[in-house]
Amino acid sequence: MRKETPKTDTKKRRPQQTAVYWQSIINSIDDQLTVVDRDFRIVQANAAVMQREGADKSKVIGRHCYELSHARIKPCAPPDCDCPVNEVWKTGKPAKAVHTHYHGTGDEKEGTYVEVKAFPLKNSNGDVTQVVLIVRDITEEKMMEWRILEANRNLLALNAIANTVSASLDLDTILNSALDKVLELMKGNTGGILLLDPETETLSYRVYRGLSEEFVRGIAGLKLGEGIAGLAAQQKQPIYVDNISQDPRLTRYVVVVEGLKAFASVPLLSKNKVLGVMNIASHGLNRFAPEDVQLLGSISNQIAVAIENAGLYEELQRKEEMRRELLHLVITTQEEERRRIARGLHDETSQALTSLAVNLEAVVDALPLATGELKARLKKIQSIALMTLEEIHRVIWELRPTLLDDLGLVAAVQSHVETHLGAAGVKVHLETTGDEKRLPNKVETAIFRIIQEATTNIIRHSNAESACINLEFGDTSVRVHIEDDGRGFDLDEAMSATKNGRGLGLLSMKERAELLEGLLKIKSHPGQGTQISLEIPLNWGGGSNV
Ligand SMILES: Nc1ncnc2c1ncn2[C@@H]1O[C@H](COP(=O)(O)OP(=O)(O)O)[C@@H](O)[C@H]1O
Ligand SMILES: [Mg+2]
Repeated sequence: MRKETPKTDTKKRRPQQTAVYWQSIINSIDDQLTVVDRDFRIVQANAAVMQREGADKSKVIGRHCYELSHARIKPCAPPDCDCPVNEVWKTGKPAKAVHTHYHGTGDEKEGTYVEVKAFPLKNSNGDVTQVVLIVRDITEEKMMEWRILEANRNLLALNAIANTVSASLDLDTILNSALDKVLELMKGNTGGILLLDPETETLSYRVYRGLSEEFVRGIAGLKLGEGIAGLAAQQKQPIYVDNISQDPRLTRYVVVVEGLKAFASVPLLSKNKVLGVMNIASHGLNRFAPEDVQLLGSISNQIAVAIENAGLYEELQRKEEMRRELLHLVITTQEEERRRIARGLHDETSQALTSLAVNLEAVVDALPLATGELKARLKKIQSIALMTLEEIHRVIWELRPTLLDDLGLVAAVQSHVETHLGAAGVKVHLETTGDEKRLPNKVETAIFRIIQEATTNIIRHSNAESACINLEFGDTSVRVHIEDDGRGFDLDEAMSATKNGRGLGLLSMKERAELLEGLLKIKSHPGQGTQISLEIPLNWGGGSNV
């Protein structure tokens, strides 16, 4: 049988126990909890509220909630304050709002963010009789959110700057787009970037916005340590001033004439070396916010790196240009020298040898019959002279095929491949398409030298049975195709092996083509033969005719 609990006992203890019980529960909440009646008077509050008000119950119970939280004399209302309690009375449903509550006065005044939630308390008829207010301090969360948003803004800004400055390697393009982006981020329209001339150690504007030409001229040649920008560069530290026109460090009066006030000078540092200064200015006294200061610092680093890169790229391009000029000079001088030696050998040495041989012939014929031995010796000398002559003709040809100058490319190539490839046992097929014509000497020489190197490679490395050379004369360009059916090779390997001298032949072929704005492509794989195609435009600028 179930044991009956005496009813009287429960009835007697419940109300007292319930009040204490519920009070302890609401006291255990960290958030501030109050219950307000229809007049906004506080009828109930938890320990967190008491603690805030100095644990004095009389200061809390019976007071208006708006007095306590907002020090107001009448209920909160928009636009100052959105009251969720009102909302509950109106709708009968829970409501929520975020308020800023201020404590203290003057400079000591501190703001806290609170989240206010209001819930209706209803009677048995379902009518709202009171409202429960739960106030939670969300300052920390808000600050965190603010910091995340700030960090996000900075990241986005940095990303935008990074994209802007990395889109080009041209210094002026970089500086112009970086400045525009910075001004957009700072919501301003006045500023500029000064670059440091390392020789004179002075700063001058390279790009600017919203500044007059007189101002820019008036600032030119700013010494390190002079004025705000000069100081920022010298000290490698940004300087922010509220009113530059009244700053005692000012040295150039144009700043006052220009009417500049709020001013930021941020040094552009790369590896602790000053490259310039970025100035952001305003005609008003609006201060730079700390977050702007931080952002400008990070942005300036990126711009400095981009400036440095652009400088390096410029230097690289200058060196490449110099290398090309030097190469051009070397090739031209070499050709000139070869031609000079070939001419010398032809005009003097070979003439002298020819006449020696002829004279010997005459002497031999004039000698009496009895001098048989002497005759034989002279004949021997004569044949040596003729062999030497032949050798000299070969050298002359190697140095500079006279055919190239006299009859042009096709004749010279034909003679060259027949003598060389033919002699090496490689079957050769030479084909000419288009209207054969004389080309600028420079072009004929380059093409001939390229073919010469390609055929030497076929003989030395390919083990080919046959080779095919095609010369195609177009209106705007000349094309050459050289193909062999030999063993082929790994191009990357051959080109990267230049250290030990290998690969220089292939490289020089490419260089010769590029000097004439042409293009040379090599295709080869082990076991698959080699194809070289060359195209040289015929409408290029000119230059010396060597
Ligand atoms: N037609 C070819 N057939 C096979 N191998 C070739 C051919 N041309 C070049 N090579 C390979 O490429 C290398 C580089 O050629 P090159 O630059 O002319 O230098 P080099 O002829 O002085 O070795 C050669 O050593 C050879 O291994
Ligand atoms: Mg070679």
